[in-house]
Amino acid sequence: MYKSEQLALSLKHLIESGAWKANEKLPSLRQQAEISGFSLITVMNAYQELEAQGLIYSKEKLGYFIAEDPNSLEIAKTVILNEKIEINSTVFRYLKSIQSENIVPFGIAFPDSQLLYSTKLMQTLAQRAKHRQSYEQVPSLPPGNLELRKLIAQRYCMQGIPTDPSDIVITSGGLDALNLALQTLTQPGDYILLQETIFYGAWQATEHLGLKVITIPEHPEHGLDLDAFKNAISNYPIKVCLLMLNSHNPIGFTVSDEIKLQLAKLLQEHHIYLIEDDVYEELYFDHKKPLSMKYFDQQNLVFHCSSFSKTLGAGFRIGWVYAGKFSENIQHLQLMSTLSVNSFIQNALADYLSHRYYEKHLKTLRNTLKRLKNQYYQYLSKHLPETFKIHYYPSGYFLWISLPERINSNVVYHEMLLHQIGVASGALFYRSDKTPHHLRINCSFELTERTQQALDQLIQYIVSESD
Ligand SMILES: Cc1ncc(COP(=O)(O)O)c(C=O)c1O
Repeated sequence: MYKSEQLALSLKHLIESGAWKANEKLPSLRQQAEISGFSLITVMNAYQELEAQGLIYSKEKLGYFIAEDPNSLEIAKTVILNEKIEINSTVFRYLKSIQSENIVPFGIAFPDSQLLYSTKLMQTLAQRAKHRQSYEQVPSLPPGNLELRKLIAQRYCMQGIPTDPSDIVITSGGLDALNLALQTLTQPGDYILLQETIFYGAWQATEHLGLKVITIPEHPEHGLDLDAFKNAISNYPIKVCLLMLNSHNPIGFTVSDEIKLQLAKLLQEHHIYLIEDDVYEELYFDHKKPLSMKYFDQQNLVFHCSSFSKTLGAGFRIGWVYAGKFSENIQHLQLMSTLSVNSFIQNALADYLSHRYYEKHLKTLRNTLKRLKNQYYQYLSKHLPETFKIHYYPSGYFLWISLPERINSNVVYHEMLLHQIGVASGALFYRSDKTPHHLRINCSFELTERTQQALDQLIQYIVSESD
């Protein structure tokens, strides 16, 4: 046993025996080194180990404190502290590997471009392109084109969320919105809560900003596990959460209104901010658009982030954040980085959205995605044995497949690349010390001869590996 493990164990016994009260400060690293006779580095490693177990927590510049309920073993099982996030290079290599046009794009994050870039929108762009004023930058500087913000605000109002255009800031896509919101709310070393399985952009943002990540597992039935959430917030000084509650990427679930309401109450009680990633909000197959957390937000704690990337085209790079009273903070950050979002595209989108075209386009898109997702689901269900679990939810265009334990999805990903087929491995969506056993398949592509053949090759390979 390492010295740090020895020290961590004896401190753990002391904590469990009640030697300190909840939220009481532990001896500083230096004091502990003097008391125990171990080196500073050993003490630091021991404290970090206890922190990872949920027994203590740290506060920037103040030291380490005893967690609220140190005897709770339950929390150690489900809520996990991930101190050092290193996912960016994996995502970088992955995105590079699937970029070639020859690769069957089951691994990409966007719908088939044939379903986006609607003809009416392209006509609007062509008409706008002829006029000089379409390119003027000043009206599009942060917070962004007023007409576009008015139209986005109207869409919130239609869902019963009172919104003023000044609440909205236009960003360079949804990812920029998430990053700006995170930068506004956090300092390096702050605690953030994420879902255990989540879009890699969320992991990348926390890596970039040097945040400590607490993860909670998904609930098999409800999507969000409220008990794990309560455990996490009572044991760590969490300042902000970044969650996906509608058409979760990669799994696909949508959390019920009842759970959202309870979550909103907890956020308010503990004054915790929520950055809600809702870029798939329009891609529901049921009759009613799911509510965002903004609907339940009474204290301006929710930064709702969305974009047109999944509905009109990622190439436009237009998104937004509902920032409310934090609008100015976001704009300050924009003026130091991207300055403004493309003014020509903002103008053209405002024009396009002011007609009924967008609603018609969304209707067609939803119907097509529903048909294709069902088709892929039926086909995969027919050809994969029961040891594979295909998670189907009525929204979006991803199928999340749990593979039998013996199949490592990174191996599947590399093998498929040899056949010019892209698939997304679970490794992109959860922490790196777990062996990945999941695949995310993008099913927004028509089953042509080529895609059908690729799907068959994938099925054949994973079934043979499961024998
Ligand atoms: C869950 C999720 N959030 C955000 C983004 C980024 O969206 P955008 O292209 O608008 O930046 C993506 C794109 O894949 C995504 O899947």
